[in-house]
Amino acid sequence: MGQFDGKVALVTGAARGIGQAIALKLAADGADLALCDLKAEWLEETAGLVKELGRRVECYSVDVSNAAGVDATVKQIEADFGKAVDVLVNNAGITKDGLLMRMSEEDWDAVLNVNLKGVFLFTKAAMRGMMKQRSGSIVNIASIIGLIGNPGQANYAASKGAVIAFTKTVAKELSSRNIRCNAVAPGFIKTPMTDKLSEEVQQKMLANIPLGRFGAPEDVANVVAFLAGDASGYVTGQVISTCGGMVM
Ligand SMILES: NC(=O)c1ccc[n+]([C@@H]2O[C@H](COP(=O)([O-])OP(=O)(O)OC[C@H]3O[C@@H](n4cnc5c(N)ncnc54)[C@H](O)[C@@H]3O)[C@@H](O)[C@H]2O)c1
Repeated sequence: MGQFDGKVALVTGAARGIGQAIALKLAADGADLALCDLKAEWLEETAGLVKELGRRVECYSVDVSNAAGVDATVKQIEADFGKAVDVLVNNAGITKDGLLMRMSEEDWDAVLNVNLKGVFLFTKAAMRGMMKQRSGSIVNIASIIGLIGNPGQANYAASKGAVIAFTKTVAKELSSRNIRCNAVAPGFIKTPMTDKLSEEVQQKMLANIPLGRFGAPEDVANVVAFLAGDASGYVTGQVISTCGGMVM
């Protein structure tokens, strides 16, 4: 018996990286999966791996920052699975780094739209079903950068700091309906997002990680599974840094 048997989990940005690892961990623990990403065909690899775990999986092409698209996607998921979403993981995120002096309005808006508005839209769309069934767990993927800031990431830091504030407010608004909302703040996790950074930057980061290694997507997925499941039934509005001790 898995802790998510009979439950439907929706993961955004599930095509690769941390989102893929989260989908696989929730599936291994028994959940059926609704996978979302910009293009449904990018989700084939994750979907195949979920199927190998014996769980039901459906793929949805959606831009998390598009309100009409998000609403239609959540309605479709509820129709396809015949029930409300039990676990929502808002994972999709992007970076468009640059020093503030040179940061364009376009790059500011792009990052805020995906990282913050996307979390707002998916939470609002999925919470309706959760409220009706009077249960649900929402896990938002923030970042330690949203706690401590980082030169060259004003847009990203602002978006992730706002996700943390949003998480606490949702937790307060929905707790009376037995819906919990928490955030994970990953540190440096080896994914296509961080592979873009130069070897020099990566080595500098490593020197600041007490546990002496970069994180793996599975390190984040394990914390997400804890926050999504009943083992954390008395935990809401919290941010768990998953960063090898970089922030303490
Ligand atoms: N990798 C890290 O070190 C790290 C650290 C802290 C936080 N995070 C956060 O973890 C999350 C996942 O990061 P990752 O490293 O796996 O990134 P990634 O770039 O490897 O994967 C992100 C996924 O999100 C999807 N996506 C992007 N924009 C989208 C949109 N508008 N609509 C739908 N899907 C979209 C991408 O197609 C991709 O599949 C992000 O929110 C990121 O900010 C990552």
